[in-house]
Amino acid sequence: MKKFMEIMAEELSSAFEKAGYAPEYGRVTVSNRPDLCEFQCNGAMAGAKAYKKAPFMIAEDVVANLGESSVFSKVEVVKPGFINLNVKGEFLASYLKEMGEDPKFSVNEAENPKTVIIDYGGPNVAKPLHVGHLRSAIIGESIKRIGRYVGDKVIGDVHLGDWGLQMGLIITELKHRKPELVYFDDSYQGEYPSEAPFTIGELEEIYPCASAKSKEDEEYRNEALEATHLLQQGKPGYTALWNHIMQVSVTDLKRNYDNLKVSFDLWKKESDAQPYIPDMVQAMKDQGYAYEDQGALVVDVKEETDTKEIPPCMLLKSDGASLYTTTDLATIVERMKLYHPDEILYVVDKRQELHFIQVFRCARKTGLVEKDTKLSFLGFGTMNGKDGKPFKTREGGVMRLETLIADINEEMYRKIVENRSVRDKDAEETAKIVGLSAIKYGDLSNQATKDYVFDIDRFTSFEGNTGPYILYTIVRIKSILNRYREEGGTMENAQLLAPMNDSEKNLMLELTKFGSTVENAYEEKAPHKICAYIYEVSNAFNSFYHETRILGEENAAQKKSFLSLLELTRNILETAIDLLGFSAPERM
Ligand code: ARG
Repeated sequence: MKKFMEIMAEELSSAFEKAGYAPEYGRVTVSNRPDLCEFQCNGAMAGAKAYKKAPFMIAEDVVANLGESSVFSKVEVVKPGFINLNVKGEFLASYLKEMGEDPKFSVNEAENPKTVIIDYGGPNVAKPLHVGHLRSAIIGESIKRIGRYVGDKVIGDVHLGDWGLQMGLIITELKHRKPELVYFDDSYQGEYPSEAPFTIGELEEIYPCASAKSKEDEEYRNEALEATHLLQQGKPGYTALWNHIMQVSVTDLKRNYDNLKVSFDLWKKESDAQPYIPDMVQAMKDQGYAYEDQGALVVDVKEETDTKEIPPCMLLKSDGASLYTTTDLATIVERMKLYHPDEILYVVDKRQELHFIQVFRCARKTGLVEKDTKLSFLGFGTMNGKDGKPFKTREGGVMRLETLIADINEEMYRKIVENRSVRDKDAEETAKIVGLSAIKYGDLSNQATKDYVFDIDRFTSFEGNTGPYILYTIVRIKSILNRYREEGGTMENAQLLAPMNDSEKNLMLELTKFGSTVENAYEEKAPHKICAYIYEVSNAFNSFYHETRILGEENAAQKKSFLSLLELTRNILETAIDLLGFSAPERM
């Protein structure tokens, strides 16, 4: 289905053509003087130079050729040559009717769907999920949903960090605490126990303790490095421990992501790339890309046009151990082999940008990906506290995700109970739903690349540009629709009529933008554009609501028209928030 703006542009383009000008000048934009008109065409201004003619004259020629239009109610040439446009109410209503019947509300599905792998979440096994992982999960999940809506084949991969030093640290600490465990007995030949020798609670305590020790104690650190290396080489006792760590940790991670309504198609991990490393490294050596530098194996990735230094990409350390870069490269090999993606998108903290520049360049240079395979990096900014520094607990420690969510839900609960008198159980469930909108909208409404301030008071407010405000609007619409039904109303023969007043027209005009907003948000990997859109729609709806008697309308056909507009508004808002990764309750 055509976009609303496209239809207008077609009208203008054909008028330009009839008047003897190039049709490309017929582009239409939203008016930047909403007090004067709804849309405008600046083509005559742009064409003045090419045709050596005053823009005003061109504009007059064009308007003379527009003729009787079923689209515009007003067409006006203003000095020095703008064409100001208003849309006919009947046309607007008929467009929205068609949009309402379109299963995707005017989003056109991709004709040639692409396979896109999104690498997001990226938690590290055995380390508690903290707020740093929150952004990746929220942004990645939203882009995945938008991509699917637009028709691409999107595969979400959590890409667990299970292969790094944190594993060696945990093994080392365990060895110090419980040296008698069979996992540390090199002569042990039997089966390893099926029960893990620790709980998730213990695991979460072991890691920070080991990490702190390794920073102070060099011998301890070397021990952990050695353990990491032995694990990577498949030492049986360590592999058995690693399996326990994985099992305990992944169960916990899945529970956390469920609460966030984030889900992955693949639970792949860094270690899955391990089998691809030897052949990949060998090939890079054979092709002459990899060379030894101070004992390490590296590939040069700098380019002539670089303005800052891009160091070589390191494949193997001098002791033969692989690195973060090595796993990421081998994961590309695996992904190409198993899924043949057209694009791999990484949603990772922007402080890792250099790492990805190196990995992408190396992958391209050494032919790990095809020429037209896109490798993209969406580097997001830091989530800061009100003090402008990375978000911390009151005590200054790393904030656990669970604590953060509990805090938000508690605040939400307080506000909801304050607002109404319903049974507590219901209020608690509602607080969770609304709390999630507060967190996700608070994050997604900012451009992903920018840092933002996590402000619980602001995010949980029912007013302003917040998730709860959007949900409040949806719930308001639902309750009007419910009341209508409870009073015995039906939607039989409901017809959307031309708008009755400016606020209704404004709401209708906002709704027409859904398709182009979603397509553009996907193209630019910019969920914040959907947030900005639904904020506008909500504002437009609320003005309409305050200025219009909806259920009190006496003309039955008009009343049904209002209610169909409400249904469309609700459907569009609910679809949009689903793309952002949250939902609305029935009541608040
Ligand atoms: N686990 C990593 C971290 O916490 C993020 C992984 C991102 N994805 C990747 N393919 N490198 O920093």
